[in-house]
Parts: sequence; C-alpha cells; structure tokens
Amino acid sequence: MNKKIAVIKGDGIGPEIVGEAMKVLDKVAQVYGHNFEYDQLLMGGCSIDAYGVPLTDETVSRCKAADAVLMGSIGGDTTTSPWYKLPANLRPEAGLLGIRKALGLFANLRPSRLYPQLAGACPLKEEISSRGFDMLIMRELTGGLYFGERKTVEENGVTTAVDTLTYTDGEIRRIAVKAFEVAMKRRKKVTSVDKANVLDSSRLWRKIVTEVAADYPEVTLEHMLVDNSAMQLVKDPAQFDVMVTENMFGDILSDEASMITGSIGMLPSASMNETKFGLYEPSGGSAPDIAGQNKANPIATILSAAMMLRFSFDMQAEADAVENAVENVLDNGFRTGDIMSDGMKCVSCSQMGDLISAAIK
Ligand code: IPM
Ligand code: MG
Repeated sequence: MNKKIAVIKGDGIGPEIVGEAMKVLDKVAQVYGHNFEYDQLLMGGCSIDAYGVPLTDETVSRCKAADAVLMGSIGGDTTTSPWYKLPANLRPEAGLLGIRKALGLFANLRPSRLYPQLAGACPLKEEISSRGFDMLIMRELTGGLYFGERKTVEENGVTTAVDTLTYTDGEIRRIAVKAFEVAMKRRKKVTSVDKANVLDSSRLWRKIVTEVAADYPEVTLEHMLVDNSAMQLVKDPAQFDVMVTENMFGDILSDEASMITGSIGMLPSASMNETKFGLYEPSGGSAPDIAGQNKANPIATILSAAMMLRFSFDMQAEADAVENAVENVLDNGFRTGDIMSDGMKCVSCSQMGDLISAAIK
C-alpha cells in the first residue's frame, strides 16, 4: 500500500523521537511491502522561528492532503524560552490547539497500560500494581475549557480573567459514541468523568452520555466525578476500561494515567476526526531539559505510529508487529533512562529505535 504521512517533528525531543518512529515505519514498509512517503512540516516553536507563527495555512493544508499525521512534541521551557514572551495566540501551544481544531480532531485516545516488564517502575504500591491495568482515556479535544471564549479585562483597577467551558449536545454525543464504539472492542465498560455536582456543562454531558448508552446495551456505563476519578486512578486503576471526559479533565487525568505506567515516555495517543484520518503523537511534552542528548524514550512515539497503522491504515498485522517488537525489546531488558531499573541495560533513544526496528520480522 502507498501512504502519505505528514510529519511534524516539532521542538525539543520531537525530532529525535519522531526520527526513531520513522525508522520503525521504514522497517514495517520493507517487511510488509508498503511505501510510506513523508511530508515534513513545521509547527510550534520551530514554525515561530521560521515564519513568525506557530501554525501556517500551508502546514494545515499539507496535513489535510496526507493520509495521517505523525507528530513529536512542541514547545519549550516556559520560563526561559523567548517563545513565551509572545502573546498567547502566537505561542507554540496555540499551534497545537489550532491544528487539532483545523483538522476536526475531536477524539483523543490515550491508552494507558502497565507493561508487566515495567511493573518495577510503577510508583504505586505493589499490592495495586500487581493487579495490572489497561485503560483508554477518550479525551474530548476540540471543545470545552480549552476552546471556550477567554479574556482578561481591567475595570476600575480590578483585573479579571475569564475562561468558559462550553459544550453542545452534538459535541458530547459524537465523543460519547466514539467511547462506546471503542468499549465494544475492549472490556465493554465506560466510565464517564464529569463534575455534575457543580457544572452545568457536566450535567448536560451526563445526560447525553446516558442517552448514547441506550444504543449499547452490552456496555456498562458508570458516571464518576473528576476529583474522585483522580483518586481512583491511583487507588484502583484496574477498575477502568474506557474513560470518556471533557478536554481539560482528560488532559489532567491522562498525565496521571501515564505516570502510573512508569513513565510518560510510554504513552501514545491518537487524535481522530469522524473518518479514519488522525494525528498521532506521544502524550508527553517536548522535554527541553534533555533535548538533543539522544536520551529520550521514543517508545510512546513508536506506539503512536502503531496506532496510525491500526486506525488510519487498517494495517492490523503491521500494528501488532510494532507492539510486539516493543514488548520483545523490553523483555530483553533494554531500557531508556526514564524506565531504567537495576539489572537492565540502559540504551539511548536511537539504540532503542534500532532495537525495535530489528525486532520487526
Ligand atoms: C497535551 C498537552 C497539550 C494539551 C498542551 C501542550 C496544549 O498538554 O497534549 O496533553 O493540553 O492538550
Ligand atoms: Mg497534557
């Protein structure tokens, strides 16, 4: 098969980790007889440096012309980078939010599972980690608090900042449908996370999710308040299958869910629209402190590429091969610094990419 992949390496560790994912994709292409063509594009801080804006129309249109987008990470150190002296709408993050909106990527899938090989890196007590966990956070990505109206006004010497959390019934319904569809292919449980004891938007969320659930009688639906969810994630993560939630709640809970896997460097993500088109990126950030040192963990990006093969290209065997290669390399004791433990072999970012590529047969 021929596939065109738009590649946004981005900032910080982005170029290193995406380079390793491309290495793995090239190996997949070779072994399975595909042809992946890459269109490399700028977004985030590197786009600010080149064009003065974090996202250009050109980048958006070339992403639209591709079959899928593979992304690294964007942004820099928020206290020292000159990008953060710019107005908020010209900073790297505005590029990321902008591209999600421009491509209509409303559904963000963040799977979080504890690899048995990394149980030692899990910060939870052994009695909890020994039960393992395998969940998927379905984060609404183009609405809610991150896209509502915002302003800062000064009146009579008082400065007021306002952010608004807005959802329409349609926006909630489409993400709920995605969550139930995914749950049907998993353990058939959906936990809808909200703050319905306080927020109107959450009360609408709960009502619509409950309506959608009626179309999926095989799936068990439970509602959980977001503060309780944060607690349950560290108390008993094994209880979760699919969690569906508002944009900011999902942003926060997915970082928490990644940390209990041992490292945010393990967590892939897929951001999808209504079709098979998606943008695939690791859940973690640009880690400017270790950028350019060949130390970063490329596994989340490599697993994101596997999600691309599975969801956008319908290449199930190829996706399995990549995921199995990751397991195989972990089984053989290879670790990047973030997941290193006693008795294991510490490898660089590029060595990890080489090992995973070599394990694809
Ligand atoms: C993420 C990131 C982004 C988000 C930032 C960089 C805007 O934290 O993908 O989780 O909040 O969506
Ligand atoms: Mg985040």
